[in-house]
Amino acid sequence: MRRAVHGWASALCLIVIAVPAAAALRQSGTVAEGVYTREQADRGRKSYTLYCESCHAADLGGTNSGDSGAPPLRREGFMEGSHAFGLFTKIRETMPLDAPGSLSTSEYVDILAYIFRENGFPAGPKRLTSDAEQLRNIRIVRVAASRP
Ligand code: HEC
Repeated sequence: MRRAVHGWASALCLIVIAVPAAAALRQSGTVAEGVYTREQADRGRKSYTLYCESCHAADLGGTNSGDSGAPPLRREGFMEGSHAFGLFTKIRETMPLDAPGSLSTSEYVDILAYIFRENGFPAGPKRLTSDAEQLRNIRIVRVAASRP
């Protein structure tokens, strides 16, 4: 048991050291580095309210009512290990659940920016786009936990 606890502590230390180091090495590549602008997230918030809030809730906490339940879009480790392209494609092709693909591409991009902001990923000077290559290059990592 002691060994197990020790193992976990070491693993945690590694994460604490390795994550910032990796972020510093790669100029772009994760959501930690400011991959959308504040304006995009502000616009995304409005679209989210119109098209997503009814199922995923105003605080992105999701709804938990049986068959009609929608998962939370803001949570510890949200989509961790995935990349922005996977998430963007999922949203664009399947959401809103009752009218998939019904929004414009830029509305989807703005909503993605808003979801990023709500998950604690920082804004930056660079605009998020729907470019597949750019999106594939944005890995989703845990950011909120490392904030004070
Ligand atoms: C009519 C209800 C409804 C609306 C409106 C809706 N969703 Fe969903 N959403 C769901 C349900 C139910 C699921 C779970 C089933 C699935 O993944 O397809 C889901 C799943 C998702 C997922 C996957 C989450 C995960 O953890 O796998 C994302 C991302 C998402 N929705 C984003 C959005 C966005 C962005 C909008 C607005 C453009 C939206 N949804 C509008 C019901 C809805």
